[in-house]
Amino acid sequence: MEQIFNVKGKSGFITGAGGGIGSFLAKELAKAGVNLALVDLDTQKVGPMAEELSGEFGVVTKAYACDVTDPESVKRMTERYSEDFPALDFAINNAGIANIEKAMDISYEDFKKVVDVNLNGVFLCAQAAARLMKGRGGSIVNMASMSAHIVNVPQTIANYCASKGGVKTLTKALAVEWAQENIRVNSVSPGYIATELVAGMKDYHPGWISRIPMGRLGKPEDLIGLFVYLLSDASAYMTGSDLIIDGGYTSL
Ligand SMILES: NC(=O)c1ccc[n+]([C@@H]2O[C@H](COP(=O)([O-])OP(=O)(O)OC[C@H]3O[C@@H](n4cnc5c(N)ncnc54)[C@H](O)[C@@H]3O)[C@@H](O)[C@H]2O)c1
Repeated sequence: MEQIFNVKGKSGFITGAGGGIGSFLAKELAKAGVNLALVDLDTQKVGPMAEELSGEFGVVTKAYACDVTDPESVKRMTERYSEDFPALDFAINNAGIANIEKAMDISYEDFKKVVDVNLNGVFLCAQAAARLMKGRGGSIVNMASMSAHIVNVPQTIANYCASKGGVKTLTKALAVEWAQENIRVNSVSPGYIATELVAGMKDYHPGWISRIPMGRLGKPEDLIGLFVYLLSDASAYMTGSDLIIDGGYTSL
């Protein structure tokens, strides 16, 4: 059992690594012996994190600034990755943003911005990752959301729901195209997880919690087991799947 869930010695990158979920996953994976490139818009947070994690857990960690919406920036990021690491075993495409605006009022620019980071950014990073994985395989995990399955209320986030629905379906399409290369592509759809992204929506929390069968918001800790599963041989035959982890929210 220990062997099939073993991730020690694997190497990969995680985008949005300076955020609530990304930084927690990075720390837990480093603790498990995983070598990591920590990717975010700038290196303010991920720079010190990389030093701390390599010092504490003896793994190789690097910090890269990259805007996932910019194809050139993503290309440079994976070029640097190839110089610093021997291979890309996995990519966690986690960077994402949200903004609350009514669909009737939102500007096209604001709508596109969310889709650009959450969906197009996932595509660019998945494509760049697959190019490095070609010929040897790997595991790509895209961050979707329960918003790919349901419409969040009472906040109005049509742009976010659309982008995450796109991530779920894009994941399936990429999984089918790359299956023969043994590149597995899956997505994760969390419910509400207590990070900065939802901290700004505190007024909504009581209403959300009353709808969550398990009666609480999720924590980044609730996600780590799923990521270890997806990066390890335990999920060797899983591709094109979307895994919901939401305290029961979407079962209602
Ligand atoms: N927190 C939740 O309740 C929740 C639920 C479901 C899904 N998610 C998804 O999980 C992912 C992480 O969410 P989080 O709660 O940790 O958010 P967060 O705001 O704490 O972190 C997001 C990170 O992405 C980075 N980022 C934003 N735009 C970027 C860009 N263009 N290029 C590179 N990096 C960029 C930010 O700098 C930040 O560090 C997101 O995709 C989010 O949509 C979150």
